[in-house]
Amino acid sequence: MKSMQNVKIIGTGSYIPKKVLTNEDLEKMVDTNHEWIITRTGIAERHIAEDNEATSDVASKAALKALKDANIKPEEIDLIIVATNSPDMAFPATACLVQKNIKAINAATFDLQAGCTGSVYALVTAWQYIATGFYGNALIIGAETLSKLVDWTDRNTCILFGDGAGAAVLKANKEKGILSGCLKGDGSNDDLIMLPAGLSRNPASHETVEKKMHYVKMKGNEVFKLAVKHMKRTTVETLGKCNLSVEDVDCFIPHQANIRIISALTRVLKIKEDKVFVNLEKYGNTSAASVMIALDEAVKEGKIKNGDIVVLTSFGAGLTYGSIVLKWVK
Ligand code: UT7
Repeated sequence: MKSMQNVKIIGTGSYIPKKVLTNEDLEKMVDTNHEWIITRTGIAERHIAEDNEATSDVASKAALKALKDANIKPEEIDLIIVATNSPDMAFPATACLVQKNIKAINAATFDLQAGCTGSVYALVTAWQYIATGFYGNALIIGAETLSKLVDWTDRNTCILFGDGAGAAVLKANKEKGILSGCLKGDGSNDDLIMLPAGLSRNPASHETVEKKMHYVKMKGNEVFKLAVKHMKRTTVETLGKCNLSVEDVDCFIPHQANIRIISALTRVLKIKEDKVFVNLEKYGNTSAASVMIALDEAVKEGKIKNGDIVVLTSFGAGLTYGSIVLKWVK
């Protein structure tokens, strides 16, 4: 085992399915309206995967873009982590299916399930593997097709989620690109966001299907309050670990779940609005893909420049929370 190494992100990529579902489209499906959705969530539209498009498909497309951006060949990748809550199947891991699709024949592969915080968990996990010298590089992908797990008759959830994927390639580097991370779990609030049936607690049966237990269930209001409190906590703690403060942040990328959550968080953290990256009006909540899609867009739009301090922070089912601080040294 080599001594601890510095790690940086050397490439990013994202993929959004073509099909758009607007708030006006949703008005025809459930008892809702554009005004309610836009003012309560900030979402105007979301993208929905095709019937024959699964999570490994969107993940693979984002992965190939990240590899191209990183100028690295698939066979050079040592590790693939897919963060998802909507895997193709219970097993094999979606990461194995991605490996097959992109021909990353030398990679280790596993999925990471940490709600919408999955990508932050995956970034921190891959960072540790590379920092210890166990692997030279890693491909991490946040990918979802939650549209397949949402009850399209439940207005409490179906208006929120969208499909997509975002990826990053991490590599050992002379200069530090990942400065610190902070991950937290809160299993005592396991019932706030869940998909109750289809596995060992409630195996699929006629009854579970009739009761719609194979769809996402959420107590949105309770999640809202905890999200702000705990994302503030992990952001402050992560910045503190690398002796930085909120004033040092050049680009803040929060989980794209609800504009009111983002506004409340930036208000309590006292981060200037022009430093906060928001794209949820176009994509809705893409869960584990959210901050990775946002990171890729922020970089491609020139909102992140060399030397910038970037913070990603997220929350989700579990509950889980996490933040990571990057110095952009691409
Ligand atoms: O990635 C983590 C995933 N989870 C989240 O991000 C969830 C975080 N929570 C939220 O984003 C918000 O709590 C929601 C957007 C889910 C809901 O917003 P809210 O302001 O907390 O609304 P509410 O649940 O308190 O509902 C207020 C009212 C209710 O009507 P009454 O009881 O006041 O008459 C709901 O029935 O709004 C009603 N409502 C709707 N009305 C029109 C709920 N959903 C809708 C809808 N359209 N789609």
